[in-house]
Amino acid sequence: MPYIPSSITQPKTPLQAMPDYSQMQTPCYLYDLALLRETLDIASRSARQYNYQIHYALKANNNPALTTLISSYGMGADCVSGNEVAEALRIGFPAKEVVFAGVGKSDSEIQLALKEDILCINCESLEELIVTEEIARNMQKAAPVAIRINPGVEAKTHKYITTGLDENKFGVHLSQIQEVLDFASQSPWLKLMGLHFHIGSQITSMEPFEKLAHRVNELWTTLEMDKRGGILLNLGGGLGVNYQDPTGDPIAPFDEYFGVFAKNLKVPSHVKVRFELGRSLVAQCGKIITRVLYTKKGINRDFVITDAGMTELMRPALYQSKHHITNLTSELPEQIYDVVGPICESSDVFAKDISLPSTSRGHILAIHTCGAYSESMMLHYNMRDKAGFVLV
Ligand code: LLP
Repeated sequence: MPYIPSSITQPKTPLQAMPDYSQMQTPCYLYDLALLRETLDIASRSARQYNYQIHYALKANNNPALTTLISSYGMGADCVSGNEVAEALRIGFPAKEVVFAGVGKSDSEIQLALKEDILCINCESLEELIVTEEIARNMQKAAPVAIRINPGVEAKTHKYITTGLDENKFGVHLSQIQEVLDFASQSPWLKLMGLHFHIGSQITSMEPFEKLAHRVNELWTTLEMDKRGGILLNLGGGLGVNYQDPTGDPIAPFDEYFGVFAKNLKVPSHVKVRFELGRSLVAQCGKIITRVLYTKKGINRDFVITDAGMTELMRPALYQSKHHITNLTSELPEQIYDVVGPICESSDVFAKDISLPSTSRGHILAIHTCGAYSESMMLHYNMRDKAGFVLV
């Protein structure tokens, strides 16, 4: 079984057709490259119908085995740190298809973005724009910028992954946007490319996207983006996936998603429309494979204690998210369990009161839909070893 410690960035071991779970070093991330390819095929085909460009959000998963494949589909990259920009370029995403967002870019990160001639910096405040202008002047190189607007559209998702409301730190508020655009339009050291939006993540209804499209139409006109030379419209990411039924519904509804924008968006045809998809491209191709260390009798409950914990999958502790869990090595009658990790935190719980085939020490469990925001959010807490990954 090709087990690749995550610190080794270029996997050299051949792919395995059928994993032998009993031999697997656990916990580990297991990625199904065939499913990733199928997802990328469908997403690209769907976006191409409307001449939309997809930028892959590296924050979802920066494992080179995945990013290399994704970049081969002609997608751009969406980065949120200097290291992500450098990694995207190293993997082979063209600089002119790399965008860089984030509310707290450091000077050196801005310098890197300018030096590497990326497509644009998504600026999130007037304060950041002033610093970017100064850096650009010092480097004698105009900075391409898109202004991230906080559009006040409710994403109807978990509070911690909603980004487009007044209370969120992201983007420029509508009341300040005119001033920010005027500053960007007037400076010789800033090249205003267009507008950027991102309302949140794991959005499973199309309604917020439809609202976003209408808000964008309004703003493009009232902010006179054509007069200002706007050629780029970046609508962010956010398309959700099915955590309840990952096997029955493994591919996000890309046609419906892009279709909503194609139907509702009204911007001039020379404006290039871009999306920053993370979760919807990679979530379902990844699982965490974990070994049962103990089954423990509790008071009115049975615990299954796994060798994976919140260090490998932080989402349940952070967002109360629920990931589907299966026992890959037992077909015994079902029982009710709480599945918990080994970390010294009461929030280190993957699932409460779920039904699994009777489980005992040594069994192997799969935690599904862990291709996004799992390996990339790995923690070193409790001095845990870094989990590796396996490709099938
Ligand atoms: N663009 C921007 C500006 C973003 O902030 C994000 C995600 C994306 C694109 C990609 O969004 P996606 O297509 O993946 O929804 N750790 C959380 C999710 C945080 C999302 C952060 N921003 C989770 O595990 O649910």
